[in-house]
Amino acid sequence: MAQKQKVAYVCENCGYDSVRWYGQCPSCKSWDSLKEFREAPATAAPVRTPAVPAGRVQSIDEIATDDELRFATGFSELDRVLGGGAVRGSIVLIGGEPGIGKSTLMLQICHSLSRNGGVLYASGEESARQIKLRADRLGVRGRDISVLAETNLDRILDVAEKTNPAFLIVDSVQTVYRPGVGAAPGNLTQIKECTMALLRLAKDTGAVVFVVGHVNKEGEIAGPKILEHMVDCVLYFEGEKQNAYRILRAAKNRFGSTNEIGVFEMRDTGLAEIANPSEAMLAGRPAGVPGTCITAVMEGTRPILAEIQALVARSSFGNPRRMASGVDYNRAVLLLAVLENRAGLMLGGSDAYVNVIGGLKVDEPAADLATVLALASSFRDRPVSAETVAIGEVGLTGELRRVSAIEQRIAEAARMKFRRCVCPDFGTASLRVPEGIELIRVRSVTDALAAAIEG
Ligand code: TYD
Ligand code: MG
Repeated sequence: MAQKQKVAYVCENCGYDSVRWYGQCPSCKSWDSLKEFREAPATAAPVRTPAVPAGRVQSIDEIATDDELRFATGFSELDRVLGGGAVRGSIVLIGGEPGIGKSTLMLQICHSLSRNGGVLYASGEESARQIKLRADRLGVRGRDISVLAETNLDRILDVAEKTNPAFLIVDSVQTVYRPGVGAAPGNLTQIKECTMALLRLAKDTGAVVFVVGHVNKEGEIAGPKILEHMVDCVLYFEGEKQNAYRILRAAKNRFGSTNEIGVFEMRDTGLAEIANPSEAMLAGRPAGVPGTCITAVMEGTRPILAEIQALVARSSFGNPRRMASGVDYNRAVLLLAVLENRAGLMLGGSDAYVNVIGGLKVDEPAADLATVLALASSFRDRPVSAETVAIGEVGLTGELRRVSAIEQRIAEAARMKFRRCVCPDFGTASLRVPEGIELIRVRSVTDALAAAIEG
């Protein structure tokens, strides 16, 4: 007879746990988010001797850091997001919508990883044959890559114990289960127990574990936030399915910064990394048409040029529609108000749509000026010159404010052969300006419209 299981209720949203069920989480106030959680009987976990003796106190000066071993994944874009490669003994969660390319990415990195040790690719989603067919198409091969189509995590762990791989990939955490746990795969209890077991494997054997997780409709990894708390690194693979570009973003990283992104393109031969994202984001850009303006955003330490498009159209209803994709909706509405009140554009009776090309998400005030110019350009039906970039934050009085890393942004624009950069007057007087680009320093939105929109 199995040991009596302890029942708790855990909030899927914030990880709050309680002995009784509530309709609304007392901690984060979300509704219907408390799910039953049964702790697995203690016997389910295999006992291993940890690689590091428990509880030894060391002076911080004496702790050796040189043994933080990192492995190249074969994609420098992924390595950068990880903080310089996959760290030995770490567990990395890769989340994304179905069909975005998580399995493809995992299969492709097997090739490079296998140069540093055995790789075990365990999939609960596809058969070994399906994986092989895809691997053939992606050109992934090698004796050191083993494939296991299995949903029983205990069997996966058994195989891992016997073959001792340096890298274990589990695709996906929602499809695997531990038989001792007594809950269906994908259930909160299962997800937590499976991740715990994988975490133990990573810490005890020093293997790097990659876990794939699907996201729910809110765009978060299905399962509780506690899953994110448990792992070392959480990466999100984003993009629109109809668009070939994919962006890999770190939401959490114990071994590096979280503001680096990796840019990929899905081709018929698999994922290819984009070393020059600015070029990719600007490809196919229309020239000499109203409603588009280029800006430079910082993604981590890298400047990337992005195209912001806007369409202002006469509204056929009393209540004009506003839509923003890639920029914050409230920010777009605020900029519309500034245009109307400070620059005198009568936008009140018009629908306005703003979109960032290439699936890029721009959440920086530095993109304000380009958004404003794209909107005004569409409204006036006059283009912004194709050789112009616009960088600057717009304040509520219509003033232009300085932004961070302006030199890097201008340098990227110059590298991409732009000839003019509209930027704030304040803080740009003593900048080193690269050859071939001219700074147009303006103080207000009105000045910027006069300088940038062809008339
Ligand atoms: P997949 O890696 O299966 O997504 P996930 O594991 O995140 O659910 O990616 C599937 C999509 O990628 C599918 O729609 C087909 C496309 N794809 C390509 O375009 N080229 C390729 O070489 C591969 C392997 C997939
Ligand atoms: Mg998949």
